[in-house]
Amino acid sequence: MKETFVCFCLVFFGARLVMASDTITVNCSKNIIMGKYGSSVVLPCWLTPVTDAENLEIRWYRPDQFKNPLLLYQNRKVITDLVEMYINRSSLTLRNPQSAGLKQGDVSLRLDNIGLSDIGIFHCYVSGDKSYNSNTVKLSLTALGSFPHLSLEHRHDSVNLSCSSCGWFPKPSLLWKSTNEKGDLSERQSPIYSEQENGLFCIYSWVILSSSVSNSMTCLVTLSEDEKRNVSLEIGAGLPVENSGVWKILFTLALLCVLALVGIFLFRFYRKYKSKSEYKEVCRDEQPNDFSMEELWKETVNIILDKESCKKEFLSFNKQDDAVRDNDEAAKIYKGFGFPYELCVHGRNKFSSGRAYWEVGLKQTNVPCKKSWLIGVAKASYTISNNKEDFSPGKGFWFLCSDPENGLHVNTEPEIVLPKNITPESIGVLLDFSKSELSFYNVTDSAHIFTMKIKRNSQEELVPLFNPGIGDKAPLKINPLRKIQAEPEGNASGSDANQHV
Ligand SMILES: *[C@@H]1O[C@H](CO)[C@@H](O)[C@H](O)[C@H]1NC(C)=O
Ligand SMILES: *[C@@H]1O[C@H](CO)[C@@H](O)[C@H](O)[C@H]1NC(C)=O
Ligand SMILES: *[C@@H]1O[C@H](CO)[C@@H](O)[C@H](O)[C@H]1NC(C)=O
Ligand SMILES: *[C@@H]1O[C@H](CO)[C@@H](O)[C@H](O)[C@H]1NC(C)=O
Repeated sequence: MKETFVCFCLVFFGARLVMASDTITVNCSKNIIMGKYGSSVVLPCWLTPVTDAENLEIRWYRPDQFKNPLLLYQNRKVITDLVEMYINRSSLTLRNPQSAGLKQGDVSLRLDNIGLSDIGIFHCYVSGDKSYNSNTVKLSLTALGSFPHLSLEHRHDSVNLSCSSCGWFPKPSLLWKSTNEKGDLSERQSPIYSEQENGLFCIYSWVILSSSVSNSMTCLVTLSEDEKRNVSLEIGAGLPVENSGVWKILFTLALLCVLALVGIFLFRFYRKYKSKSEYKEVCRDEQPNDFSMEELWKETVNIILDKESCKKEFLSFNKQDDAVRDNDEAAKIYKGFGFPYELCVHGRNKFSSGRAYWEVGLKQTNVPCKKSWLIGVAKASYTISNNKEDFSPGKGFWFLCSDPENGLHVNTEPEIVLPKNITPESIGVLLDFSKSELSFYNVTDSAHIFTMKIKRNSQEELVPLFNPGIGDKAPLKINPLRKIQAEPEGNASGSDANQHV
């Protein structure tokens, strides 16, 4: 009976009932309470005049749910398990640190882990022997999305830089900023929104940039002055494949380069008498860092995997400890594809100066080329965390990796996704302390893939890092360098190339 009457009053007299002198008034914050997605909020309500609420009934409920309060305080007990979605998320709380709580009429509600379904009105109803009253508070929230994710795609004589970010509420805006006035941003996509399963928004856009103009591009996603995320990328000097202008020419030159290499191996015996500049000139024109595979091979170190330091129960090694892949136990725990970070294994070698080069094979005979893998370096004191964010340069990890979904990417900040047309079967890694750089090469095409800067604490030693990923048939295998290609067995120069560390 009483309930029906209350509902009636709410509808016709609004939230505030003014009653006789000893009556209770529920006084709530009139401002919309703004919360952050996933965090906690306080919905402040209190009784005026100050009244001890310990012996009253307090009912917090969503519109039209008087009978199913998310929090009910009755007979001096709090009941919070009446509504499934508020179990473990609601409690009575203090509206400010000075509040003396229920005793002085503070009936505020605390909500934890707020989500989109919490947006809207909350009713607070308080009743005693002589009177009852109710009022409402309005809750809204914002969700700060992820750092934008940039990816590059090379086109004829331009690059297509795209930016995406998810986890926003409400819809954010997206702005491209260029440091170069001449950077022509005329061709660009106005933001495209999509809704995630949880109701939060993703935003996406791209711009076409001339690859001849160097530029620093920023993708800025904004909700409000305080809620924005941006990432920047240097285009030009730092382009992953710098002179990727015309693919056809590049391909032809790469072919020439390979032919030149083959020639060099065939005439290796005569190499002393021949000038090396010929070979270099062919390559210099289209390789960004003026490298030659032959120079790299001189820096080769012999890598042995340290199988004592990894999750042996999930990894299988060959006898020589230079090949590794996931095993059946791993398949039981880690489903699908990709590279669970727990499957990382490092080399026994430690580096702190000079240059070191090694190669890792991703393709073995009779099995498809690996799609899930990680190759790079880590500081020797690294630890494996459950948090993906921890595998960052800041935490001492630098790597190139691949998974079937995202293709090739490097863990720069921001993460850079590499052009889809690179599908290496063998990766060369050059760790160069003189330049503080880590470079990756596509050995099959003798092509540079990407160079990343390494900032480490001085003297911190680095170890080679590998992860064979999950679900690939092919092992990840350290190439025994220069013994495979065009190298007559027992050639003395073969051991030159295999410096042990
Ligand atoms: C609500 O509380 C505020 C501050 O405590 C007070 O100024 C105001 O008069 C109250 N309103 C009512 C209707 O009691
Ligand atoms: C609420 O918390 C208890 C104790 O932490 C837990 O056992 C229970 O599963 C939780 N219930 C829900 C619906 O989350
Ligand atoms: C730029 O790349 C995105 C995919 O990353 C694609 O959807 C878009 O169509 C491209 N723009 C142009 C002009 O090719
Ligand atoms: C991008 O964010 C950084 C802080 O993370 C800030 O210093 C910088 O001004 C921002 N750039 C733009 C264009 O908003």
